[in-house]
Amino acid sequence: MARHPFTDTIIKWFASHGRELPWRGINDPYGIWLSEVILQQTRIAQGTDYWIRFIQTFPTVGDLARASQDHVMRLWQGLGYYSRARHLHQAARQVVEWGHFPDNYEQLRKLSGVGDYTAAAIASMAFGEPVAAVDGNVFRVLARYFGVDTPINTSQGKRQFTELAQSLLPPDAPGTFNQAMMDFGALQCTPSSPACRQCPLEASCMACAQGTVSLLPVKNKTVQIKRRDLTYVYLRCNGKTAIHQRSAGDIWQGLWEPPTFEGGQLPQWQGRLTLLKDNVRHVLTHRRIIATFYLLETDTPPATLPSDYVWIDENEIDRYALPRLVEKLIETLSTHTAQTDC
Ligand code: ADE
Repeated sequence: MARHPFTDTIIKWFASHGRELPWRGINDPYGIWLSEVILQQTRIAQGTDYWIRFIQTFPTVGDLARASQDHVMRLWQGLGYYSRARHLHQAARQVVEWGHFPDNYEQLRKLSGVGDYTAAAIASMAFGEPVAAVDGNVFRVLARYFGVDTPINTSQGKRQFTELAQSLLPPDAPGTFNQAMMDFGALQCTPSSPACRQCPLEASCMACAQGTVSLLPVKNKTVQIKRRDLTYVYLRCNGKTAIHQRSAGDIWQGLWEPPTFEGGQLPQWQGRLTLLKDNVRHVLTHRRIIATFYLLETDTPPATLPSDYVWIDENEIDRYALPRLVEKLIETLSTHTAQTDC
């Protein structure tokens, strides 16, 4: 089948502009795998030195597998994202256990820490398997050239860009094409200020024609889900309990709650403290809450209770607007009280 003109241009560009990197031109899957793992979150300039040091220290996957974890971590020091080193070491041991380095995409995918991109990169470069390796560079180049505005961080976007990359991949040179795309994205079609005037694809680039280069690729905004650890202490004092209203600027503004402490802290209050339930998981839109419920039975109101707390009859608590999590606490309390009664 005839190659798409895009493919031809990219491959031609790579022949004269591709970077010379020490792992290029080798077909040892171990060396290629090592380079891909190092480059996952590291720039080429920094990663290259580490790759050389790793290959010199552990020339084969067997050498890496036999090394102590401490040795591997020390060599990795300074690269960050240390789970990469742990996976690398674990995967080396998997390879030794299997008795051979996996030689196709499906098998590579089973190695610890190897995802779709890394498996495709190794399979294409070391074994010539025609699978497209789709990384951030590839998303950007394709989104601009073909004018695709599907968000790249959605499953639909991932599928669409992977299919597009796969349709452009020349079956007789998959490793060259994948590396050409990486270099083209890193050197020519850069995230900001791409060199469009000197680009061999400019005449047929959709984003250039439409003036949308700086708007592509599209990425949906993601909100980080934060974890919060909350400890509730339900006070029981002569048939009364103390609650206060949550203030502005935080979750559950205006709702009522018993004394609440953040991050596992507990107050030094007199009385009989009972753990009702721990590890209670509660999910809000942007928060993941892990709660602990305590009951504190006492005859004297704690002197250090802040002044915005009000004492109410225990059986009147459901007249107040409570977060669902506090309702869970009340439910746990009823179960506990019923059990103690019988
Ligand atoms: N980034 C990750 N892997 C790469 C490779 N093989 N060549 C260039 N850039 C890369």
